[in-house]
Amino acid sequence: MPKHEGVSLSVIKRLPRYYRFLGDLLEKGVTRISSRELAQLMRLTASQIRQDLNCFGGFGQQGYGYNVAALHKEIGNILGLNNNYTIILLGAGNLGRAIAKHMDFEARGLHLIGIFDNNPTVVGQQIKGLTVANSTYLEDFCRERKPKAAILCIPKEAAHETVERLMSAGVKCFWNFSHYDLSLAFEDAVVENVHLGDSLMTLCYQINEYYSDGEEK
Ligand code: NAI
Repeated sequence: MPKHEGVSLSVIKRLPRYYRFLGDLLEKGVTRISSRELAQLMRLTASQIRQDLNCFGGFGQQGYGYNVAALHKEIGNILGLNNNYTIILLGAGNLGRAIAKHMDFEARGLHLIGIFDNNPTVVGQQIKGLTVANSTYLEDFCRERKPKAAILCIPKEAAHETVERLMSAGVKCFWNFSHYDLSLAFEDAVVENVHLGDSLMTLCYQINEYYSDGEEK
């Protein structure tokens, strides 16, 4: 039974931002903050913050506000950041390599334990202390190490078959960069899709709006 059943995805998606802002406050030595001050800082409304946090029981005290360290810790717990879930990466090309090298998995509750590729020239290379393994060994590895999630940095065309193999081997959660719509094909998969291109198009829309009045800026 999920711990936080019924909490909307839009609330969940705001939690990392709360966590980040509270972490910054902690670094600056701020110990206590009102929902109004936090709202100002994050350009939200105080009622939005209270509503979001009430989904998890609320953590403020009337007249005191929030204890920054306690709230930071609670949100970290809600996000599951202390569980050190194991994750593997598929596709050690340009993107996979960049993610493996530059993402601080540990700070986000994850531990990268394996990297796989099917290209013999890539297999055997060292990335962040891990040797890229041949993806033919995927099932053996999953049986032995039981990773909880996989990062897909493989081409779209390879995604369906790879996910089928991973699901059969017990991996059900995916950080999906492959542009293949996994949720449609695998209903019971847990999927977080990342499309940098969508973000860029959203920026493009905003640039378009900004310059649409024809004035020189
Ligand atoms: P790349 O060609 O540099 O790397 C792909 C790697 O996957 C190669 O090393 C290849 O040998 C490996 N591969 C192919 N089939 C495989 C399989 N069945 N099992 C294991 N490994 C396999 O490509 P790049 O630039 O790293 O991009 C990877 C994918 O991510 C592409 O599909 C690209 O469109 C997508 N992409 C998505 C972004 C996003 O925001 N979602 C951003 C950039 C790229």
